[in-house]
Amino acid sequence: MKLVLASKNEKKLREMNEILSGMGVEVCSQADAGVDVDVEETGTTFEENSLLKAKAVMEASGLPAVADDSGLCVDALNGAPGVYSARYGGEGLDDTGRYRLLLANMPKGQPRTAKFVSVITCCFPNGDVLTARGECPGTIAFAPMGEGGFGYDPVFFLPKLKKTFAQLTPEEKNAVSHRGTALKLFQEQLQRYLAGDGSYPVTTLGERGIIRGFDK
Ligand code: IMP
Repeated sequence: MKLVLASKNEKKLREMNEILSGMGVEVCSQADAGVDVDVEETGTTFEENSLLKAKAVMEASGLPAVADDSGLCVDALNGAPGVYSARYGGEGLDDTGRYRLLLANMPKGQPRTAKFVSVITCCFPNGDVLTARGECPGTIAFAPMGEGGFGYDPVFFLPKLKKTFAQLTPEEKNAVSHRGTALKLFQEQLQRYLAGDGSYPVTTLGERGIIRGFDK
């Protein structure tokens, strides 16, 4: 089975395939599916944005589409950058600029606890929707460490492993990460959905109040 990924992030594509290829599911890029959709992330929750992206790509491609909306929520910043993680500090910043800004914005003397959140949504052309959420707790390091991963990985520290996400191998990161957890949950749901035994928590696009201009 082929799913189109509603993202242009090559690293997300690789992480998804590493986990889903074992069950015979191939995740392809929008380019592979012949579509080029840029979705405005107007939602205020990970669930909302994830659904907006998956729905737009499913409609453009006519194929099942899967989206991950993810971000870093820092307790001392009241959950910021959250759904704005990719845009934190504005358009001019790259990944390094964003995590440097985050380090600079960390209030002194307050707990540095944080969590990564990932919400995976899969929209099927018949209107069925699967949703899975994963979270990974950690802390914000005082300085970047490690070369791997992407985004805020160098400053996201896992106290149990005494390493940042950027110091883990892809396999080690998948085993504990928000996206790894959400993808495993999604994999289980997809397996049950494809088996058609009715035991999966499926909703339809028409049942979701946040879908605008779409009545199934
Ligand atoms: P999205 O592509 O709109 O979901 O934006 C997610 C943003 O959150 C990314 O651009 C990263 O800045 C950040 N992010 C999400 N997952 C990770 C991760 O696993 N490591 C580091 N940063 C992440």
